[in-house]
Amino acid sequence: MSLVYAGTCCHSPAITSRGEMADPQLRRQLLEAFDRQRRTIEGAGAEAIVMVSSEHFANFFMDNMPTFSIGIADEYYGPIEDPNWLKIPRTTIPANPDLSLRLINQVMQSVDVCFAQEWKFDHGMSVPLHFLTPQYKIPIIPVNINCQSKPMSPLHRSWALGLALREAINSAPEKIALIGTGGTSHWPCTPDSGKINEAWDRTLIDHLINKRKDALLAYTDEDTYREGGGGAFEIRTSVCIAAATEEQTGEVWFCEPIPIYATTCSILSLYQQPLDLLT
Ligand SMILES: [Fe+2]
Repeated sequence: MSLVYAGTCCHSPAITSRGEMADPQLRRQLLEAFDRQRRTIEGAGAEAIVMVSSEHFANFFMDNMPTFSIGIADEYYGPIEDPNWLKIPRTTIPANPDLSLRLINQVMQSVDVCFAQEWKFDHGMSVPLHFLTPQYKIPIIPVNINCQSKPMSPLHRSWALGLALREAINSAPEKIALIGTGGTSHWPCTPDSGKINEAWDRTLIDHLINKRKDALLAYTDEDTYREGGGGAFEIRTSVCIAAATEEQTGEVWFCEPIPIYATTCSILSLYQQPLDLLT
């Protein structure tokens, strides 16, 4: 069994682009939770991070929008945004194409995925990586779920992808961490940007850590759009991680609305390797 850790984290670009404008105590607690996740990934000996995110038209666009895509590049590059704005230096990010190939082949046994030999990371990957592997020492396997443009796949397909990823990860000898990013309420690029539905977010997070499959799969896009805004279509990423880690109850390491970051920021721990499996 090679899944050594799984969790989710927020990816708002404002966490880095206007980081210091948040309440200092909340920011300190958020960064401590990111650092706890970093230390847990490193402490588990992760040799790769499979990061499930929702990119924002940086690589995939309306002319050819894959529902699910997995990277198989020799290396990645990011952030695609202006680094002076995002306040994350551009760099190359290590990959593991051999592991990507094995994971894709295994996932394809049950879920169809596209693959990508080129991938420029946007803030959906770059913000989490900036905190979780700031020296970019751990190879990344990026996974994208289309959460931007209808038609989007139903949530039960994100659940199926999570199960397939878990099976694929478990079939690999490498120690692998699995991280999902994004998914609480936010209204990006609209007049409502900055609005947060804290109650909706806290209910969602309670379902996620308790792996309530029926409750999670009952979210409709109509309800999600009304209650969580267009940005909340990204719940597909965290539903995917909940499915992959269904057997364990998770923990909330941080969950607070931070208005200047335009969303509820959360760090959830959804799987830790049982003691009897530690090697
Ligand atoms: Fe996003």
